[in-house]
Amino acid sequence: MEEVVKAGAALTGCRYTMNPALSLLGEKWIPHEARNVASARRFVRDIAADWNAAGDVPEIAELLASELVTNAIAYGSGDGSAVIPIRITVSGERELLTVDVYDSCIAIPRMRRAGHLEASGRGLAIVQDLSHDWGWTLNPYGKSVWFQLVAWR
Ligand SMILES: Nc1ncnc2c1ncn2[C@@H]1O[C@H](COP(=O)(O)OP(=O)(O)OP(=O)(O)O)[C@@H](O)[C@H]1O
Ligand SMILES: [Mg+2]
Repeated sequence: MEEVVKAGAALTGCRYTMNPALSLLGEKWIPHEARNVASARRFVRDIAADWNAAGDVPEIAELLASELVTNAIAYGSGDGSAVIPIRITVSGERELLTVDVYDSCIAIPRMRRAGHLEASGRGLAIVQDLSHDWGWTLNPYGKSVWFQLVAWR
């Protein structure tokens, strides 16, 4: 991955640095509507595949992104008006692929372990179980919920 960042820096004429901005691999904005989850998950999978993420990382990234984008649409509109779009970024830093899903709500995710008979409540548990790391980061406009996968050795 470091080689890729160096090459990107060379193409843009920048001096090489591990500035995270140089490792942004893609960014997408979607309206707050459930029908846009499909294009968001394809976007994440395609970037992981384009950058030769190892093994089944593109499919896992697609699945986990789908959970986070679905949550952002369901719970992530701060004032309920849902006019502020959702931003999805994919970045690479050393061996880690990171997907951030930004929404405009400062309420933080609450992971729960759904019982056998419960129909929902598994999304974040899946993200935790399949990711290298995950979490959320508050910002002045809301937050991002993110996960990382080991994508390059
Ligand atoms: N982006 C978010 N903003 C605010 N709250 C969130 C966000 N994502 C998740 N949550 C909260 O965390 C809870 C757990 O999320 P999780 O995805 O695990 O389950 P779920 O969405 O309720 O059900 P499922 O994903 O199985 O359909 C949600 O019910 C919600 O209260
Ligand atoms: Mg969910």
